[in-house]
Amino acid sequence: MTDQIDFNDRMLSLGLARVAEQAAIASADLIGRGDEKAADQAAVNAMREQLNRLDIAGVVVIGEGERDEAPMLYIGEEVGSGNGPGVDIALDPLEGTTLTAKDMPNALTVIAMGPRGSMLHAPDTYMDKLAIGPGFPEGIVTLDMPPATRVSALATEKGCHPRDITVCILERPRHVDMIEEVRATGASIRLITDGDVAGVMHCAEPDVTGIDMYMGQGGAPEGVLAAAALKCMGGQIQGRLLFRNDDEKGRAAKAGITDLDRIYARDEMVTQDVIFAATGVTSGSLLPGIRRAPNFIETQTLLMRSKTGSVRRMIYRNPR
Ligand code: FBP
Repeated sequence: MTDQIDFNDRMLSLGLARVAEQAAIASADLIGRGDEKAADQAAVNAMREQLNRLDIAGVVVIGEGERDEAPMLYIGEEVGSGNGPGVDIALDPLEGTTLTAKDMPNALTVIAMGPRGSMLHAPDTYMDKLAIGPGFPEGIVTLDMPPATRVSALATEKGCHPRDITVCILERPRHVDMIEEVRATGASIRLITDGDVAGVMHCAEPDVTGIDMYMGQGGAPEGVLAAAALKCMGGQIQGRLLFRNDDEKGRAAKAGITDLDRIYARDEMVTQDVIFAATGVTSGSLLPGIRRAPNFIETQTLLMRSKTGSVRRMIYRNPR
């Protein structure tokens, strides 16, 4: 146990980028092949192998699922050489397995790392999420507001009309009413079929992505990863865990969560400084996808540190 060794985020960040890159490269041959499971497995194997090369005493706190469901990168798995700082790791080796299988935009490999206890141990349930970009007073939009009120509150703060606001929402039957309510304000909606980590991250750069707000229900693990990203890029996110049955409530209890109705703000999901890396698998508005040339493979990785707010875009090319 090496909790005494400082979490040197600067030194570890390049290693984290390598982990994200290799997971993306491993899934490259499975883009557009219609096999979600194979694509995910390839990314999982590569991410785990790379993580185990890092000099860390890591514990997966957001991973592929419970130990009995996921043989690798399960919640609680210890990763790394064991020689180094004690760190918590949140990961999604392939965020957008279906996007990858269908060669649709915005599939990413995603990983965040911080000191022990830095990230909410969110169970594998759904989470209601609401996110906006940086530069707004804390709490100008909240999960307790109806969707239309969130849009008008943001429009008022921005000094624009709701029709000038674009909201990103996962296209799911459970969101039909929300979509109708948001459309009634005049706001525009960018529907995505999958990948709400990218959906939330889009809010951090509205000038580039055209998205001002993200709302809707998606995976809770993805909510914590998105909070880690926004802690680095700036922006607000709120999340409330959702439970469909007693099994899911049991998962929360196992993760030490007692207040099931709590709304978590960004810095309650990610309580200390973290580093975050995401590599594009398929091209999207956040990152270009993997480029496969006859003699090399190229990736682009977003590498960020919340301590400094630094954002790097790293292009990696390797002969093949
Ligand atoms: P996977 O990569 O695991 O398939 O997740 C994709 C995703 O779209 C997430 O981004 C999102 O949080 C979640 O699935 C939504 O879940 P569901 O598909 O059950 O609505």
